[in-house]
Amino acid sequence: QPRVFSGIQPSGGLTLGNYLGAMRRFVDWQDKGLNDGFETIFCMVDLHAITVWQDPEALRRQTRELAAGYIASGLDPAKAILFNQSQVHEHTQLAWIFNCIARMGWMQRMTQWKDKAGKNQQNASLGLFAYPSLMAADILVYHATHVPVGEDQKQHIELTRDIAIKFNNDYGVDFFPVTEPVIEGAATRVMSLRDGSKKMSKSDPSDMARINMTDDADAIAQKIRKARTDPEALPSEADGLEGRAEARNLVNIYAALADQTVDQVLADVGGKQFSEFKPMLAELAVAKLSPISTEMARLMEAPDEIDAILRNGAERARAIAAPVLKKTYDIVGMIR
Ligand code: TYM
Repeated sequence: QPRVFSGIQPSGGLTLGNYLGAMRRFVDWQDKGLNDGFETIFCMVDLHAITVWQDPEALRRQTRELAAGYIASGLDPAKAILFNQSQVHEHTQLAWIFNCIARMGWMQRMTQWKDKAGKNQQNASLGLFAYPSLMAADILVYHATHVPVGEDQKQHIELTRDIAIKFNNDYGVDFFPVTEPVIEGAATRVMSLRDGSKKMSKSDPSDMARINMTDDADAIAQKIRKARTDPEALPSEADGLEGRAEARNLVNIYAALADQTVDQVLADVGGKQFSEFKPMLAELAVAKLSPISTEMARLMEAPDEIDAILRNGAERARAIAAPVLKKTYDIVGMIR
């Protein structure tokens, strides 16, 4: 049986990238889990968020907003386990063990570390450096086998595999599973609307570069209208998107929102100019996203209910994580 885990940082607003690359896939997995009888676990990784400075009030709000986003997108606390990371201490306890398994060199190779720390690595937090070790613990403390993520997290999942393998080898056990990254769909890497070579990100200084899940219809339409494109018409086949990063991105977004393949989309819109395609995309995006943002706003009116959902999820999560941690301590040689 698979077991599915994934997480999102409450480090800012949710973007269309988070939604298409991760949250929609979570909902698919939740439903599959329900049918086939396996557990799906989705986390707000607040401990990861504080690897860079977060204002405490903002962090609380963003964590609740992320939970609201999960639920508004179709995750259901009756079907999947939803909780925030800091409530299940087993994550950080296992992360310490993994800090002693993982090598400095492995962490130094992480592109997210290099990007986020920038030129002044000496001034980055130790937590930012150790980030992938905590992420491995998030996953392996549940013995999760499948981790749905966007393309940018692939390297971290590979590191998780390396940690599992080294732990098993060092202690001569067959304990931690070797996890599969699950990177699926037409939008595994949603790009900035201003620059087709950059990922759409909540930390981009330009708000015009991203669509936020809380944007209203006017903002969504305006951002798509102003999105960078080239002057050519859309091609009728995917080959024709070669070397056209911005065009490819908008087509990918359309395909993911419409639940179609890129070829299906191009069969319909091939030959159209962007002046015609962009309003179609805006209309589709508003139709798909505005019910979610309306529901998020409604849920945010009852923060106590959100907190109760997270507390309940944390209890269920701990019931799975605690025995795994105990067994890990036994393997390592800790007296209990
Ligand atoms: P985070 O919070 O940056 O992003 C959450 C999820 O959204 C995906 N994503 C995207 N997908 C497509 N296009 C984009 N532009 C885009 N931007 C973000 C990410 O790939 C991710 O799936 N390290 C993780 C959080 C994490 C985690 C975990 C994930 C912590 N522990 C354990 C899985 C399992 C992160 O920073 O994601």
